[in-house]
Parts: sequence; C-alpha cells; structure tokens
Amino acid sequence: MSFPTRRLRRLRTSEKMRELIQETTLTPRDLICPVFVQEDLKTRIKVESMSEIERLPLDDISDEVGTISDLGIPSIMLFGIPTKKDEAGTSAFDDNGIVQKAISQIRKNFGDKIVIMADVCLCQFTSTGHCGIIKGDKIDNDSSLETLAKIAVSQAKAGVDTVSPSAMMDGQVAAIRKALDDEGFTDVSIMSHSAKHRSSFYSPFRDAAECAPKFGDRKTYQVPFTNAREAMMEVETDINEGVDIVMIKPALAYLDLIAETRRRFNVPIAAYSVSGEYALVKGAAKQGWINEKDITEEILYCIKRAGADMIVTYFAKSAAKFLQKS
Ligand code: PBG
Repeated sequence: MSFPTRRLRRLRTSEKMRELIQETTLTPRDLICPVFVQEDLKTRIKVESMSEIERLPLDDISDEVGTISDLGIPSIMLFGIPTKKDEAGTSAFDDNGIVQKAISQIRKNFGDKIVIMADVCLCQFTSTGHCGIIKGDKIDNDSSLETLAKIAVSQAKAGVDTVSPSAMMDGQVAAIRKALDDEGFTDVSIMSHSAKHRSSFYSPFRDAAECAPKFGDRKTYQVPFTNAREAMMEVETDINEGVDIVMIKPALAYLDLIAETRRRFNVPIAAYSVSGEYALVKGAAKQGWINEKDITEEILYCIKRAGADMIVTYFAKSAAKFLQKS
C-alpha cells in the first residue's frame, strides 16, 4: 500500500492551525460603502431591486456616515440623485449640487475621520441617462472630459478626498488630474473605474440611481466583457495618466482581471462588487437557498484573494458587523 508523500491535511487539523496558515485576511478596513443621496428628499426611500439599500435625504447623511464609521469602515462612495436633469448635466458640477452639499456636510462633521469618495459621472445628471455629452447621435468624448473635470473640481472645492470617474471616457484621468492640479487640489486623489465593463450586473443600480440610458446602451464606452487585454490597456492608460487607485468592475465574474492587474502593476486595486452581484445573493438568501452571511464572507475573501486591496460593496455594513465579531 502506498502512502501520500505530502499530507496537506496536517495544516487543517484545528481552528488555530487553520488561522495560522490563512493567507488572505479581510477586515472592515478593506471596505468602501456606497451611499446614495437624493436632492429634495424628505424621508429615506427603499431601493426596490436592492433589499436594505436606501436613498437618503441630505439630513440623514451624517447619521449614516456615523454608523458606517463606527463599524470600522474607513471610506464611503457617494452617488447623487439630482432633481434637475438636462442635456449638459449641469447639476453635476453645481457648487450647490446634492453631492457637493453632502461632501461638505460630511467633511464638517467628520473631519478626516472618513475618506470621502464621490462618483464622477454624468448619467444621473443628464436627461439622456448617458455618461457623456451627446453631440449629434454620438457620445462626444472630448466635450464630456471638460464636464467631468468640472465635476471633479466642484467636488474638490466641497472637500472630497478622492474622485472616482466612472464615465469610461478616454483621457478622463488626465483631464481630471490637470483640472484638479490647476486649481491647487494636488492632494485630491483619483480612483478611476479603469476597467469598467459593459455589464448586465448594473441593472439594480440604475433603479437606485435613476441613471438608465434613455436610448441605446453603453457599448461605445464601456469595455466588452469578452476582452481581457483591452481591460489591461485601460488600466495601463489610467496609470500613465496619473491615476492613484485603479478599479476593476464588476468583481465576481472578473476575478481573472483583478489577478492579472495585481501581477502586472504596482498600483492599489479596488474591486467594485456591483449591484447585480448583491441582488443575486440577496434574492437567493430571501428564498432560503443560500446562507447570506457565509456566501458574502466567501465572496469578499475571494475578491481579496484575487488581488484586490479594497472592495466597494453594498454588503459593507453587514460584512463589517460579522467581521468585527470574528
Ligand atoms: C454610472 C455607474 C453605474 C454604476 C456605477 N456608476 C451604472 C452604469 O454604468 O450603468 C454601477 C454600479 C453598480 O451596479 O453597483 N456611471
């Protein structure tokens, strides 16, 4: 009878042994919590397609950030829903816009106790629901860049730490970096949605943020989900343009790209576990088909194991709760 030459089970014999051998760690410090704030809202509204996610009125924002911060989560990602939408997306760069107001209120109440990140995009603010400015029948790259730069500067004036462009316009990092530097905001960092794929996993978010395109789709600007080399070119381009943190999005079906980015580049990597990933787990858990906590824990650990340094996730609060206990 022959015996195994290597017995890997020796390293799995007890809880303490397994702890010693554990390669990947996850703490609330790894998480970024998305927050939706809506202009002119009186009370919180539940997002139908994203159980337990709400749009908040401005008055509730500090309470919410307090809760997030008390859970040990170091950062939030703000998304704004304006009352007024127009073709140029002007309310996105209004110094009195909903996102700008939220940023300054949080800054005033929390100082540097929380990293304030804000989405820089147009789709919530344009009447077309597209992430750029339309000229003729096309989404015009270069005029969109001017607007994205204005949004970033207005958020910087309000006190944002990190702007997070998600429009997937070519040159968005360079345009934003230059505009921020020209205005003296050299310390405001950029976390770009570098490899943001054209994905059906975003549909619950469009319900949360009212940003579905009114016509067509986002195929002319977001990366096709079939293309990994192209995703790496997006990451490389953003690095060359001076990005501080790159993002791969979505996360769960794109772990290969997180791992590939980790292998190729020395840059902090964020993974965005998007609304559809959240909805799949929530939906199945509601039916009693899976254990929500166990699945969430596994998914988040695996995203980190793939190479992400931080994770934007709608599970941030619930995960921080069980991670604090473990
Ligand atoms: C908009 C934006 C989207 C998401 C983040 N920013 C939607 C889209 O591109 O259609 C999706 C996030 C999610 O699904 O959680 N620029």
